Amino acid sequence: MRAPVSDLPLVLDDVSLQAGATAILDRISLTIAPGAPTLFIGPNGSGKTSLLRLCMGLAKPTGGRISWGGRSDPTPTRRAFVFQRPVMLRRTAAANVTYALAQAGEPRARRGERAVALLERVGLADLADRPARLLSGGEQQRLALARALARDPQILLLDEPTASLDPAATRAVEEIVLSAAQSGIKIAMASHDLGQVRRLAGEVVFLARGALCERAAASDFFDHPSTPEARAFLRGDLVI
Ligand SMILES: Nc1ncnc2c1ncn2[C@@H]1O[C@H](COP(=O)(O)OP(=O)(O)OP(=O)(O)O)[C@@H](O)[C@H]1O
Ligand SMILES: [Mg+2]
Repeated sequence: MRAPVSDLPLVLDDVSLQAGATAILDRISLTIAPGAPTLFIGPNGSGKTSLLRLCMGLAKPTGGRISWGGRSDPTPTRRAFVFQRPVMLRRTAAANVTYALAQAGEPRARRGERAVALLERVGLADLADRPARLLSGGEQQRLALARALARDPQILLLDEPTASLDPAATRAVEEIVLSAAQSGIKIAMASHDLGQVRRLAGEVVFLARGALCERAAASDFFDHPSTPEARAFLRGDLVI
């Protein structure tokens, strides 16, 4: 049985991440609460992936505290992560989802039925018996989303899930993300694609050099960025 616990709000309190002498993230305080998607943007190397990994509990901060629903134990309960390049098990698409369901504690007798429903949800029902590693990049990313949804997450963390996809495959992934958001799942996602940020974001968190530079409702961020770094980023200037 899944424990009736919550992973939200996800609270970062004065969080830093240091690797040797390098400061990767610098004293970030941020609360991720239920609501419209939060999109993390910023130049290459600004710390988006590192921040998402901390939010998932895949790495520990070197300073500050993180809590999930008031708990500081990083064992994931109601959260899931989708990587930029998902790694597929050497099994069929359906078996990849069944495996995720087993890991999430779904009773064996219900896994087949739920796997079918999840594959339908991401538009892969026709490819259920195809070896997952033979799927296209876009199909693999949709399968990664089905596996993440198998965990019945309250919060879904996504690291540039469409970075190597063409526009049609990107749209397919965006539709799944939007429908997950509409079903009440909190989306926290890094993206490089400003068009995508406009399509998906309720709020934007802008990072530069490991610091949280700006956080605003998406429309405010695009219409009135308040920091010089964000203005330069939106103009397409190099932000170092
Ligand atoms: N384990 C590590 N040791 C040292 N430096 C690291 C480590 N992990 C990340 N970094 C550095 O921290 C910075 C932030 O990296 P991160 O991958 O979080 O950025 P990002 O915003 O996701 O970049 P991109 O847009 O390219 O995906 C980079 O300069 C990176 O080289
Ligand atoms: Mg990254």
